[in-house]
Amino acid sequence: KRPAGAPDKALAQKVTKVGVIGAGLMANQFALLFVRRLQVPVVITDLDQTRVDKGIASIRGEIDALLQKKRISPDEANRLNDLISGTTNKSDFADCDWVIEAVFEELGVKQDVFADVEQYISDTAILATNTSSLSVEQIGEKLAHPERLVGFHFFNPVAVMPLIEVVRTPQTTPEALATAMATAAKLRKNAVITRDTPGFVVNRVLAKLLGEAMYAVDHGTPFEVVDKAVAPLGLPMPPSELLDLVGLKVGAHVLDTHHNAFPDRFYRSENLHKLAEYGTLLEKDSKGKVKGF
Ligand code: CAA
Repeated sequence: KRPAGAPDKALAQKVTKVGVIGAGLMANQFALLFVRRLQVPVVITDLDQTRVDKGIASIRGEIDALLQKKRISPDEANRLNDLISGTTNKSDFADCDWVIEAVFEELGVKQDVFADVEQYISDTAILATNTSSLSVEQIGEKLAHPERLVGFHFFNPVAVMPLIEVVRTPQTTPEALATAMATAAKLRKNAVITRDTPGFVVNRVLAKLLGEAMYAVDHGTPFEVVDKAVAPLGLPMPPSELLDLVGLKVGAHVLDTHHNAFPDRFYRSENLHKLAEYGTLLEKDSKGKVKGF
C-alpha cells in the first residue's frame, strides 16, 4: 500500500550523481549516506575551498571510522573515498540529477543558492532542500522551474535517525516527489510526506518541547532540574543534550521561526540566543561524553 499522498513509484527518476551544496555538519553526514547507499558519485561545494576541504576531510574521517569499526571493508572504503569529491566549480554539477542543499537556514541565502545552481544543471535534475522550518515554496521563488523542488529533511545524527520528512509544495511535480520517496527508500530511511508548513511535523513537536524547557529555564528552573523532571517521559536524550546536539544557534533559530509563524503558540527564548554565543550548554570530556553543566 502506498503511504498517504505518495505518488506512483514508476515516476521516480534515476539518480546517477548527487550534488551537495554546503559542507557543514548536516551536509557532510548526508553526503556520506548518499555515497554509501546509492553508490554513485557525490560532489560537494561550499563558499570557498577551505570549507570544501574541511567537509571532505570530515567525510573521509567518518569513512575511516566505519572501516576501523569493521562496518565496511577496505575495498568499500576505497570505493567510497573515490566516489566523494569536493569542488568550488559549479560546472561540476552539470551532470547531477539530484542536488540537495544544507546551507545556512536563511530564506534569502537558500533562494540565491538555488537560483545560482540552476544555471549549471540540466532541466530534469531534481532539487531538494534540507530546510528544517522555512517554507519550501518560498525557497523556490527565484527558480525558473520551482516544480522540481522538494523538501528533504534529515535529522541529526543522520546515520542513526530513521526518518526523512519529504515536503511537497503546491507546485512539486509527482516526478520530483516520487524521486524523493525512492531516494529516501534507497537511503534506508522511512519517509513521510508533509505539508509545506513551518516546522513540518517533527520540528513543530520539538519546538514545543524545547520551547517549554527553555521557558522553564528562563523563568528560574535550572537545566539540571528540567532534564531530571522530564526523565520519566523516556526521551532518548534530555532537552539540554538535544539542544546541544541540534546546535544552540539552530535551536534558537527553530524556536524563532515557530514563534514568528504562531506567536501565541510558540515560545521564543532570547536567553537561548545569548547561550548560543558560548556554543554549548554542556561540558564534554575528550571522548565527547557529557560531563555536565
Ligand atoms: N553520528 C553517527 N552515529 C552516531 C552518532 C553520531 N553523531 N551518535 C550516535 N551514533 C550511533 C552510534 O555509533 C551507535 O551506533 P551502533 O549501535 O551501530 O554502534 C548508535 O548511534 C547508538 O549510539 P550510542 O549507544 O552511543 O548512544 P545512544 O543509544 O545514547 O543514542 C542517539 C544516541 C541516537 C543520538 C540518541 O540519543 C537519540 O536518538 N537522541 C535524540 C536525537 C534526536 O532527537 N535527533 C533529532 C534532532 S532534531 C533535528 O535534527 C532536526 C532539526 O531540523 C533541528
